[in-house]
Amino acid sequence: MSRRITIFDTTLRDGEQSPGASMTVEQKIEMAEALDRLGVDRIEAGFPVSSPVQFDAVKRIGAAVKRATVVGLARCKKIDIDAVRDSLADCPNKMVHVFIATSPLHMKHKLRMSEDEVLASITEHVGYAKAQGFDLVEFSPEDASRSEWTFMVKALKTAVAAGANTLNIPDTVGYAMPDEFGERMAALKKEIPELGDTVLLSAHCHNDLGVAVANSLAAIRAGADQVEVTLNGIGERAGNAALEEVVMSLRVRKDLWDVETGIETEYLYPTSKLLQNITGLVTPRNKPIFGDNVFSHESGIHQHGVLKHRETYEIMDPIHIGRNRETLVMGRHSGKHALKEKLEQYNIVLQDQQMNSLYEKFIAIADKKKEVYDEDLFTLVSGVLGDLPTGWRLESFQTWTGNQVIPSATVKMLKGEDGCLGTQTGDGPIDAVFKSIDQCTGIQGRLTEYVIQAVGSGKDAQGQVKLQVDFDGVIADGKASSTDIIEASALAYINALNRREMMSENVFRPDQP
Ligand code: KIV
Ligand code: ZN
Repeated sequence: MSRRITIFDTTLRDGEQSPGASMTVEQKIEMAEALDRLGVDRIEAGFPVSSPVQFDAVKRIGAAVKRATVVGLARCKKIDIDAVRDSLADCPNKMVHVFIATSPLHMKHKLRMSEDEVLASITEHVGYAKAQGFDLVEFSPEDASRSEWTFMVKALKTAVAAGANTLNIPDTVGYAMPDEFGERMAALKKEIPELGDTVLLSAHCHNDLGVAVANSLAAIRAGADQVEVTLNGIGERAGNAALEEVVMSLRVRKDLWDVETGIETEYLYPTSKLLQNITGLVTPRNKPIFGDNVFSHESGIHQHGVLKHRETYEIMDPIHIGRNRETLVMGRHSGKHALKEKLEQYNIVLQDQQMNSLYEKFIAIADKKKEVYDEDLFTLVSGVLGDLPTGWRLESFQTWTGNQVIPSATVKMLKGEDGCLGTQTGDGPIDAVFKSIDQCTGIQGRLTEYVIQAVGSGKDAQGQVKLQVDFDGVIADGKASSTDIIEASALAYINALNRREMMSENVFRPDQP
C-alpha cells in the first residue's frame, strides 16, 4: 500500500503573511471551507494571539471546517498557547503549532536567549500546550536549516519528551538545497526513534532560491510524513512550497514515490482561482499547473503533436486539475439555482445571504452584458466576499470630463447610516473621483499603483482595477470591477480604504505581554 502524505496547508497563516494577501474573516472562512473540500488534512488558520481579528478568524474557521484538523500557531509563550486553546475551544479536530528559533543568529539577535534557555522554554511550553488538552502538538525549530545540527536534534528530542507528536523542520529563509535537506531529514529519522512511529516528521520550505518544492519532495523521499504548503505558493517573501506543485509531482510521478495524498485534484484549479480572486494575487502565465500558458501550445510542431496525441507535449490531463471542464455560459435568464450549481463546480459554496447578494450583482451585470463568463463570476464572488458590512460604500457618483474642460467629480458615500458628499476637480475623471472620495471621508490617500485590465472578452468586458494607496504610511491594496472603468476605479479605491481599516485591526503586536 502507498505511503500516505499528510498535507498541512498554511495558506491562511504563512500565505496570508505575504504582502497583498491579507483577507477579511469572511474570505478566510470561504477559503478554509474550499481547502477542506479540496481534501487537505490540516489547515493552519492563523496566529490567534496576534490580533482580535486573527483570533476571531481562527475561531470561526474552527467552527466552519468539517473534515480537516484546524491548527493555530503559537510562539513559546503561554499567552499564545492560551489564545490557540481559547480560539479552538469548540473545534472538534484541533492542533497547536508551537515554535521557537534554534539557529545561533536568531537566538543571539532576536530571542537573546542561550541554548539552555531555549531548551527550557521548549520543555515548558510544549508541556503547557499538552496540558491545555491538545492531543496534537506540533513543534518547529525556526530557522532549522541554519541551526547547529547537534543543538537542533537536542531541541527536537526535548520537544518529543515534552509531548510533541509532529516535528516540523522549517527552512525559514529558503536556504537549504534539495540533497542537503533530504539528507538532514533522513538523518533525523535515524536520530529520533519516535519518528516513523508515534511522531510525524514534517517539512516546511520557503522559496527564496526557488527550490521549496524540490526540497519538499526531497523530504518526502527521505521519509517525511507531512509537508507544509500553500496554495499558489503564496507566503513570506518568495513564498512557500506550492501545494499544487507538490501534489501533482507526487501524482504525475507516482512511479518514483509510491505515496498518496487525500487531495481531490479536480478541485485544485477552481480553489486556486478563488484564492487569486480573493487576494488579487494573480499567478503568472507560466506558473506551473495553474498558469494560463500551461496547456497552450504556440509552436506548430507542438500544436501538431498535441492534436495527434495529447500526451506528446502534455504530462498532465487538464481535467485532473479541474481545467477545461464543459462550461455553461450564464446570462440574464439564468436562475439562482443554475448560478449555485455553476459555483459548486468551482468549489465555491456561499452562505444564503452571500448568495442573494451575488445573485443581485449577477443580474445587474447580466443586464449590461450578453454573456457572463466564468472570469466575470469569479470577480463578482470576490466582490461579495470582500464586502465589509461596516465599511464605506459608494452610493452614487458623477463625472464631467472632455478635452476642453477641467475634469470634475461628485461622489456620494455611505458608512452605516451616515452619508457624505465630495466634489473635486482632478487631472482626469478618475483622479477627480479619488480626490472627491478623500474629501468625503476626510482620509487622505496617495495612489502608488494603478492597473486596469479587461475581464472576459468583447466590447462589453468588465474592467478590473487593481490599485495600491498609501494612507499616511498605511499601504492598502484595492480591487474591483465594473463595465464602467470609472466606477471600477472608485470601487477599488473604496476597497483599499476599507482594507486599511481591516489592516489596522489586524496588526501583529509581537510585544504583547
Ligand atoms: O517559516 C517558518 O519558520 C515558519 C514557522 C512559524 C514554522 O513559518
Ligand atoms: Zn514559514
